[in-house]
Amino acid sequence: MLDRRHPGDAVPGDDLVQSRIFEAPAPTPHTRPLRTLPLLRALRQNPVATWTERHFEEPVLSGESILGKITVVSDPALIRHILVDNQANYPKDRLQHRVLSSGLGRGLLLAEGDTWRLQRRALAPLFSPRTVTGFEAAMADVAAELVARWDRQRDGRRIDVAFEMARTTLHVLARTIFSAGLGRRTEEFATAVTHYLEAMGKIDPLDILDMPTWIPRIGQLRARPALSFFDAVVTRMIDDRRRVLVDEPGSAPRDLLTLLLQARDPETGTGLSEDDVKANIVTFIAAGHETTSNTLTWALYLLSQDEQVRLRVEAEVDAALPDQRIVAGSLEKLPFTRAVIEETLRLYPPAATLTRDAAGPDMLGPLRIKAGSRIVISPWVLHRHKRLWEQPQAFDPDRFLPPRKASVDRFAYLPFGAGPRVCIGASFALQEAIVILATVLRAYRLTLCQGHSVMPIQRVSLRSQGGMPMLVRRRT
Ligand code: HEM
Repeated sequence: MLDRRHPGDAVPGDDLVQSRIFEAPAPTPHTRPLRTLPLLRALRQNPVATWTERHFEEPVLSGESILGKITVVSDPALIRHILVDNQANYPKDRLQHRVLSSGLGRGLLLAEGDTWRLQRRALAPLFSPRTVTGFEAAMADVAAELVARWDRQRDGRRIDVAFEMARTTLHVLARTIFSAGLGRRTEEFATAVTHYLEAMGKIDPLDILDMPTWIPRIGQLRARPALSFFDAVVTRMIDDRRRVLVDEPGSAPRDLLTLLLQARDPETGTGLSEDDVKANIVTFIAAGHETTSNTLTWALYLLSQDEQVRLRVEAEVDAALPDQRIVAGSLEKLPFTRAVIEETLRLYPPAATLTRDAAGPDMLGPLRIKAGSRIVISPWVLHRHKRLWEQPQAFDPDRFLPPRKASVDRFAYLPFGAGPRVCIGASFALQEAIVILATVLRAYRLTLCQGHSVMPIQRVSLRSQGGMPMLVRRRT
């Protein structure tokens, strides 16, 4: 536990107990870089366990390893240079392409150059503030169904919160992509998504060693059945929707599928091919499902460890949701709940590393960067960096409320990245996380099961190792 008080903070009724603050668990950084074999092992098992103490202290650190020369950048001004000012020189790296290409290859997340520009312009309206606000009711329905399901079960029982949140965020995507949801196929779809993310989640040593892509990767082979299943389900949904759009266009729902099929690049009028539509549906699910569910899992865990913060969120949601559910206008009344989500994304950023390969030579401050150099910007490192954050390990949502929020550097806080390739689903994800967290906390109080030790593990996104077993009790 650390001290909660900051210079100039006046906390009414502050006493010794209230001033204690929870320190969020993390692997202990190494005193020196790992040697080749332990590094390979750690990269496969848990990449966030490979960092050294110096990464959390230095603004820029270059080093040679089995991965070649890597420069880790944690200086906000240089990050701005890479992600915004000179972003054309820093496309996404080859390793990322190799690891994620199955299923996502043609989608927005991995596209580059003109293909990316066309898709980004065409897809922007799918995530405009107006469209995202329009999804609030679907998100509130899914959150209310979760609470209703818990209500039907024994009070005080043990659940795996990670599993429950994963199912819930998948339901949100099913409802917002295909408004009628997936019906009978939801459970089958959920299992296929889990298998897909599981298979893709571990970095294959062949990819680390840059071996030719014709050598089959175990993960990609394991992902194939799930991908064939998605393809069959999604193709059918697209065919059905196209028929509705032709026969009775007025009756087609305004969900992401209709918007994807109607998307046009405003500059050229070009739409997406059938394969691009499919790849983007898989991309939205892969990029938006586990990231958001892990955020919620970590938030519920952090709240279970800090009674003072939990009581403040409970007071806020009780006042904002008198009828137990989110309605129009509720979100504006939840600034502290939003701050809890933002602080959770700082401590446990689902996208723990962003990687780029320099296309041409460049200067990063005094450091000369050669063409082909690999650049790593790690939200995990950046968000716990000693130069950038006061008490970096402390769970302290007030950082994201005024007046302290104004001092958070835009390029020191990157849960959604920055620049042209910033997460297109950021406001969708934030809205969803707030709706679900508020609805759950309005009804339930969760406590961590005794004896479970919590540690983050990096897969496709940053999960909690061994799930998150908690006891759920109805609030009276
Ligand atoms: C808490 C939840 C989420 C987090 C932390 C997150 C994080 C990120 C980050 C860091 C990037 C940039 C990667 C880079 O620059 O290398 C990104 C890109 C992207 N995200 Fe998200 N994301 C979340 C939710 C979502 C959702 C809900 C969707 C869609 C429904 C989504 C779709 C995408 C797409 C398509 C891209 C690629 C954008 C482009 O390259 O133009 N994400 N996300």
